[in-house]
Amino acid sequence: MTARIIDGNALSARVRGEIAVRAAALTARGVQPCLAVMLVGADPASAVYVRNKVTACEKAGIRSLRFDYPQDADPAEVMSRLAALNADPAVHGILVQLPLPPQFDEAAVLEAIDIRKDVDGFHAENVGRLSQNRESFIPCTPHGVMKMLETVDVKVAGTEAVVIGRSNIVGKPMAMLLTNAGATVTVCHSRTRDLAFHTRRADILVTAIGKPRFVTGDMIKPGAVVIDVGINRLKDGPDAGKLCGDVDFESAKEVAGVITPVPGGVGPMTITMLLENTVISAERAASARDLAAGK
Ligand code: GUN
Repeated sequence: MTARIIDGNALSARVRGEIAVRAAALTARGVQPCLAVMLVGADPASAVYVRNKVTACEKAGIRSLRFDYPQDADPAEVMSRLAALNADPAVHGILVQLPLPPQFDEAAVLEAIDIRKDVDGFHAENVGRLSQNRESFIPCTPHGVMKMLETVDVKVAGTEAVVIGRSNIVGKPMAMLLTNAGATVTVCHSRTRDLAFHTRRADILVTAIGKPRFVTGDMIKPGAVVIDVGINRLKDGPDAGKLCGDVDFESAKEVAGVITPVPGGVGPMTITMLLENTVISAERAASARDLAAGK
């Protein structure tokens, strides 16, 4: 059996089309959605991500503001920019690209963002709300994964789900979302003793570890849903220079029931969910404005 492949590019294009319609409706109401993006330092991967986010905004009719700072930026300067963006009613989303240089207290920066504009969902209050299954901005990558599961009609409730990776950006919020959806969730990580024991029990397996082709077909339960969040560049071998996921796609697709490719899987969904969160924030701002005006 060869697994069904979830096409993240096609799903993204469809969802982005819907987002563009909502953005245009807001603009017609006099509230063009606007995302402010901050990039500190010269990390090449971060620069690519930020450029892709800004371009995706433009295509969806979302205004973007970009603020670039050098590697040795003064944290006070960044904090004062954040305060100004928080206070600006024309800005609906604020994103600080991570990682930040070492002179920054990352948690303090994320908590300086107004929670109503925290479209990454990284503020401690939004993380807490997610853990309580209350309305919040949901971190974009795990949110995109849930959207992918919806499209293939995977019934999450009652399944055994295994997440490999415990980062604040993917692993932990992913585990919370799956728990909220009724899965029995195991979080594995670099200290897990027998990883394959866990992965072979998984009806849904999400990998976010940053190790190229690490999860092989023999580690997967037949018929499982395999979602590969990893984006790695191969250093050696015949495919050197190519992008690949944490999953060895060739062997995994012969065992899994459903699988996401890399590239063209989860990657495009991350930016799509960022655009959606920005539009949601702008919709809330437009409703609040209308309410205040007695409309
Ligand atoms: N660095 C890696 N992924 C992300 C993300 O989704 N948002 C931000 N702000 N930084 C990141």
